[in-house]
Amino acid sequence: MHLSRRRLLYGSAGVAAVSVAGCSAGEESAQLTGFTGISMPMTFSERWVIEGEYLQDHLEGLGYRVLLEYADNDPEIQVEQIQAMVDAGVEFLIIAAVDNRSLGSVLAEAKDKGVTIIAYDRLILDTPDVDYYVSFDNYEVGVLQAKHIISRLGLEEDDDAGPFNVELFSGSLDDSNSEYFFLGGLDTLERYTYEGRINIVSQDTEQARTATQGWDGAVAEKRMTKLLEDHYGDEPLHAVLSPYDGISRGIVDALAEADYRPGSDDFPIITGQDAEAASVKDIRDETGQTQTVFKDTRSLADVAISMVTAIMDGDSPEVNDLGTYNNGFKFVPAFLLEPVSVDRSNWEEVLIDSGYLAEETVDEAEG
Ligand code: GAL
Repeated sequence: MHLSRRRLLYGSAGVAAVSVAGCSAGEESAQLTGFTGISMPMTFSERWVIEGEYLQDHLEGLGYRVLLEYADNDPEIQVEQIQAMVDAGVEFLIIAAVDNRSLGSVLAEAKDKGVTIIAYDRLILDTPDVDYYVSFDNYEVGVLQAKHIISRLGLEEDDDAGPFNVELFSGSLDDSNSEYFFLGGLDTLERYTYEGRINIVSQDTEQARTATQGWDGAVAEKRMTKLLEDHYGDEPLHAVLSPYDGISRGIVDALAEADYRPGSDDFPIITGQDAEAASVKDIRDETGQTQTVFKDTRSLADVAISMVTAIMDGDSPEVNDLGTYNNGFKFVPAFLLEPVSVDRSNWEEVLIDSGYLAEETVDEAEG
């Protein structure tokens, strides 16, 4: 599957905030109680735990009943959990899907019962029944990762810099975000691969060949080990485009196992995403990956909550994008936030000073 950059970028309706009518908005809101089901994909990626609890606390604080479940990264478990929420009579569903294409029938039933369905962070595909999408600019995440590599390799300042050897990793194929992250990265590196100043030595440039099933660090570690064995006997590896911190730490483990020394001058530049404490520690101490992309998940959760409260108040939720995220049935009205690149120069200001992470959490984190 290959989405063109044109489709990703030029379908956008712009960022001006606009409102669209919510299915459950208006007169019906008088009968709503705010009962909300939150369906999160798994607990091994720490963001979902933070967000699940944040959403639950804040919605309960507003006096709404909440059901919160984690799906153990298993699409079937997630369908069962959502079905139980629908049976229990939820009026709102906030869902971060494990598999973007497996929810169609349970959502059809939810929609029949008048439930408002919010796709949270990950778009839900192949169903007309998703009402809203809240996320970050996913293409921009990949752009920021690639820009870190370009800047750390000095490719922009010095036209003679290179050639450098780079490998590409992408996320789980059942998560539509993976494609946006990957294309943002690939498009941004393209000029340099075209000029021959970046070499993808393995020639793995197709998303499917670079994918990491289940976003699992162990899967990435295995692929990195194989890449090193097959292509980097004598060749140096200069950078790795990695889409997510858990994957980045798997890559670092493979490199360390192959005697690359984190922190040394010839340790590759490695990107990431989510500002997980163990990865922030590596960035701070120069013991692993060199960058992450911070998505302030408190703001994301706040947007989802504001959608619920808008409908409860009989208003239409605010969205700022009507034309970027086509789920196969329609462009889903979306509210998108901006991601921020974090490296050794700004981690403290962006993550600690903002209260997102406590310094002790970083100190105590284990990779
Ligand atoms: C993606 C999400 C990333 C990361 C990854 C693994 O869908 O956008 O921020 O969390 O899943 O959980």
